[in-house]
Amino acid sequence: MTLRRTKIVATLGPATSSPERIAALIDAGMNVARLNFSHGTADEHRERARLVREIARDKGTHVALLGDLQGPKIRIARFTEGKIQLEVGDHFRLSTSHPLDDGNADIVGIDYPELVNDCRAGDELLLDDGRVVLRVDSVGKDEVRCTVTAGGPLSNHKGINRRGGGLSAAALTDKDRFDITVAAELQMEYVAVSFPRDAADMHLARKLLKDSESNAWLVAKIERAEAVADQATLDGLILASDAVMVARGDLGVEIGDAELVGIQKLIISRARKQNKVVITATQMMESMISSPLPTRAEVSDVANAALDYTDAVMLSAETAAGSFPVEAVQAMDRVCRGAEKHPTSQNSGHRMGQEFERCDESIALAAMYTGNHFPGVTAIISLTESGYTPLIMSRIRSHLPIFALSPNAETLGRVAMFRGVQGIQFNPVEITSSDVNQAAVNTLLDRGHVQAGDWVILTKGDVYNSRGGTNSMKLLHVGERLV
Ligand code: G6P
Ligand code: MG
Repeated sequence: MTLRRTKIVATLGPATSSPERIAALIDAGMNVARLNFSHGTADEHRERARLVREIARDKGTHVALLGDLQGPKIRIARFTEGKIQLEVGDHFRLSTSHPLDDGNADIVGIDYPELVNDCRAGDELLLDDGRVVLRVDSVGKDEVRCTVTAGGPLSNHKGINRRGGGLSAAALTDKDRFDITVAAELQMEYVAVSFPRDAADMHLARKLLKDSESNAWLVAKIERAEAVADQATLDGLILASDAVMVARGDLGVEIGDAELVGIQKLIISRARKQNKVVITATQMMESMISSPLPTRAEVSDVANAALDYTDAVMLSAETAAGSFPVEAVQAMDRVCRGAEKHPTSQNSGHRMGQEFERCDESIALAAMYTGNHFPGVTAIISLTESGYTPLIMSRIRSHLPIFALSPNAETLGRVAMFRGVQGIQFNPVEITSSDVNQAAVNTLLDRGHVQAGDWVILTKGDVYNSRGGTNSMKLLHVGERLV
């Protein structure tokens, strides 16, 4: 069976914490397990991380861990009764001084003093991901007075966004700082920062990770209107990160659903052009929270993200709390494989007419160009220390599997997120140098990925275990004696 190129990130939660369920998710095709720090305790995340590592190891596969920081999501406080009902035309006030546990149908507290400075009459405030909409009538010294323009139930702690953005607390909260130490302790390969405003927020997150001695790659969640307001800010965020997530939940609320699809395509293409990894997230298989089959629209959404060449598609509540978590991963697996057969996902125009900056980059791109144009080639092998060479390779569209051969567990986990890349444990240092090419090809032969008569491309450097050192590419004919 051909290997799936688009990777699947599945969020673990109450529905997927048992060893059996985690094993079933891995069998169904989960490449990355997301631990969502917005829910659950540090100990629950520790236990899930331990199970993922242990079960993946037993199955001889590599699953990356992604820790998703809660970030400064702004939320209303609580209602005396837990919940109220708002009707169109009702007046409703958000107050920075009202008791936090004593909201009612007229007024609710909010623990964000800046609200009165961030809002103007005429603004639209969106609660509970836009299910309830308020129009601001006037702003007082400690309250914002509104009229309901879309009604519905409203319960404790629902999130609040302003149409067009502009409600912005500092990106890394005290809780995030603590959760970064947990991510470091669990050696997570990826850490996602929620609601970053610009590159400076990402630099701060990187510093905090360094202080905790974590090598995690940083994911910027693109979910504020400000982040996509102009290309310079978006590119700045992308360049300050190792990966980005199209976090469609909050982003869609802030910029409006009509803008979202175009922006998703822009983010995916800008990330790939800058050699970064990109994840497409939120509500991809939403109906599967309670149904064993996705809707046609969801199928189309996942397939289109795969056709746009996202590295990974993500499941949130579908796997964390849904009734059909394993079926949701299976559905994504099926849909991605189907989409990947489409010719546009196999032909590349990437960086045509551009100069390359580095030797290893040039070799990586030459390998892909050769593989895509020489019909006998069935696989690319990249000996890699950090995963950088296969990352560059996988920015190019191709039908060829890229095998990242590395001695480092961390690298093997990390490449689980890269589109079209499969990690395999391999340590060239343990092998006589004249036998390394043969040993690498044998690794693929043993696993049934290639057969005699195939051509395989292999890249490496002169010295083993030196990152950035890739300087050669070989075309190897499987079945012949290779040196
Ligand atoms: C392995 C190979 C080296 C190569 C390196 C590239 O260690 O044995 O010959 O230079 O990978 O690693 P990178 O992290 O730059 O992809
Ligand atoms: Mg979000």
